[in-house]
Amino acid sequence: MTEFEKAERLKKLPPYLFKEIDRKKAEVKARGVDVIDLGVGDPDIPTPPHIIQALKTAVDNPAHHRYPSYSGMTAFREAVAQWYEERFGVELDPNTEFVSLIGSKEGIAHFPLAFVNPGDMVLVPTPAYPVYHIATIFAGGESFFMPLLSKNRFLPDLTAIPDDVADRAKILFINYPNNPTSAVADPSFFREIVTFAEKHGIIVCHDAAYTEIAFDGYRPPSFLEVDGAREVGLEFHSLSKTYNMTGWRIGFAVGNSRAIGALGAIKSNIDSGVFEAVQKAGMAALRGDQSCVREMTEVYRQRRDLMVDGLVRTGFEVESPRATFYLWVRVPPGYTSTRLATRLLEEAGLVVTPGNGFGDPGEGYFRIALTQTRKRLAEAIDRLKKIDI
Ligand SMILES: Cc1ncc(COP(=O)(O)O)c(C=O)c1O
Repeated sequence: MTEFEKAERLKKLPPYLFKEIDRKKAEVKARGVDVIDLGVGDPDIPTPPHIIQALKTAVDNPAHHRYPSYSGMTAFREAVAQWYEERFGVELDPNTEFVSLIGSKEGIAHFPLAFVNPGDMVLVPTPAYPVYHIATIFAGGESFFMPLLSKNRFLPDLTAIPDDVADRAKILFINYPNNPTSAVADPSFFREIVTFAEKHGIIVCHDAAYTEIAFDGYRPPSFLEVDGAREVGLEFHSLSKTYNMTGWRIGFAVGNSRAIGALGAIKSNIDSGVFEAVQKAGMAALRGDQSCVREMTEVYRQRRDLMVDGLVRTGFEVESPRATFYLWVRVPPGYTSTRLATRLLEEAGLVVTPGNGFGDPGEGYFRIALTQTRKRLAEAIDRLKKIDI
């Protein structure tokens, strides 16, 4: 077969650190072990029935079978604007401050194409959702990594960014509630970000995928709630985690109209929008009864409490998160993240994600996703107790 030379951008992709774990997982499964997968951040709870019904009805209507509008149906844009107003007190212009996305991953991955030229800097948190860095590479940019450390409550230290780097930076990515650390940010942190972005002329991209999964009365804020945010940035949002719709592919970006317009210009040359029937389902989700969100959050809260308690009793160090369905657990002394993850898989049939897979400062941690039933989580704890860590 002809050897096709791959583009530089593919050659620059960071090594896939989960390769070894994936291989071991397949090997352990092939041995017939009942593997409990605490690795993937994909909800096990089904999409609520009223949302499914809205899709079914919409699919039967031929009006929805044609190309959708690039920026999203008017009614979907209005549903998002109303949801933002009710949930965050943020008023949006649905015509200029909104673009629909085929899941927030798609928008995040395309955004740097709109603003980054080869050699430009992008400020990227680490450990983090890998797409911020990869999107930067694909646009020909260079990531300046901002470590998220426990001593800073997993917020980036803006004072550690050299002025010349900040001046060369086009975009700054942040994500709260955070994957993988489950840290949260308050509006005063967002205000610091706005001041920093104004000073250096940087566009802020806030990834808000997990704002609706929060516990104990905590309500995560929107970046757009703080004064001046809309002048410097935008927020990526998703229906994936809020309504258990990861497979449906629907999200949106809202905020700075010029940034939104530029993202829309990239997208209109690459994709053709979100299937209208899926947008109708999205409207049913956003405009419908929100008790499904409360019920889902309660399920995750119970799982969180069971798992945190079990881990602490087994000798692990972990903070009980205020948001997200992730636990960011300290690796016990004497282990690396990968060695611990390998041991848990081989000896207990448990899949966890080694923290270094999200970036070097994630070394010393592993991530657990609470996307298994309480019964399975209890079984995971029992297995943990049996091995001598
Ligand atoms: C932090 C973060 N952002 C964005 C996404 C992408 O979500 P989606 O593309 O399904 O909207 C994920 C998915 O796991 C995530 O963890």
